[in-house]
Amino acid sequence: MSSQDIPEKNLPAEQGHAHGAVGTVEGDPFADPGMPPHEHRIQDIDERAAKRSERVVALLFTVSMLATIGFIASYVAIPHDKSIYLFPLGHISAQNFALGVTLGVALFTIGAGAVHWARTLMSDVEIADERHAIEAPAEVSEKVKADFRLGAEESQLGRRKLIRNTMFGALALVPLSGVVLLRDLGPLPEEKLRHTIWRKGKLLVNMNTDEPLRPSDVAVGSLTFAKPEGLEEHDHDFQNEIAKAALMIVRLQPDDIKDKRELEWSHEGIVAYSKICTHVGCPISLYEQQTHHVLCPCHQSTFDLSDGARVIFGPAGHALPQLRIGVNDEGYLEALGDFEEPVGPAFWERG
Ligand code: FES
Repeated sequence: MSSQDIPEKNLPAEQGHAHGAVGTVEGDPFADPGMPPHEHRIQDIDERAAKRSERVVALLFTVSMLATIGFIASYVAIPHDKSIYLFPLGHISAQNFALGVTLGVALFTIGAGAVHWARTLMSDVEIADERHAIEAPAEVSEKVKADFRLGAEESQLGRRKLIRNTMFGALALVPLSGVVLLRDLGPLPEEKLRHTIWRKGKLLVNMNTDEPLRPSDVAVGSLTFAKPEGLEEHDHDFQNEIAKAALMIVRLQPDDIKDKRELEWSHEGIVAYSKICTHVGCPISLYEQQTHHVLCPCHQSTFDLSDGARVIFGPAGHALPQLRIGVNDEGYLEALGDFEEPVGPAFWERG
């Protein structure tokens, strides 16, 4: 139904704008043609149509609320290892599918509700606004406030309580989808980061050759990287474990070792230290034979391996943890226990 078919008495009062005021172009091809005739919407004329639109918008917001609840229920109730067959995607995670569908519906219906509300019920006034200077004098600012109040009035937020309440409900519920996903940040590491898999009797294995190390394999001046016996690259938890257990092994002249405990924990001058920098956890890889300094390539923290691996330069907060080592009956280097302090950044010592 166009506005031309509507009896004059049913048409809403014009709101001070030049609806239908088409400018003349006679004699001037560049004259402003003005606004075309305004077409009133059915909802502007028929209160029953407006009510129908209101119910559609409320329905969309309600569907959004239900979808958000469905999202949370899917997250809680569907096992994350359950899969379903879906043509043409094949086997996919049932939980991911349900989460995607419910979140998509929740967001889409909020958007669809807002668009339908704006298209059918909010003010349909067409306005021609003249260009004006960029400054905002006091009267403009007053006008903006007045327009805002008028906009709030015209959106019928106060009058259409059903829409307002369902919209607030939908907007309040949709962030819950993000909140429940925070659960995936857990579980807390608790004591796991304080310990490594080093135990008394575990052999030191060369990271490059995969062979257990004997003291004779460690030459003065060389830097050898080692891992615990039994930790293989194809192990499920290899990356997590090696990130804590990686060692660097250096042979010093026992007379060069200044720290008494370091000397006791070494074997014939061979010392084993964590390879993980105590600043933010980069692997240390540079060794200076003459000074016995090791250098972290990330931010240049430097540790003195002849003096308990104390920090002599850079941002690292504390010395590298030392692993106490010895030799077993077969002549292989072995750990005599776990590190006595957490490896890596100092955060875990403060907890
Ligand atoms: S991580 Fe080693 S100095 Fe920053």
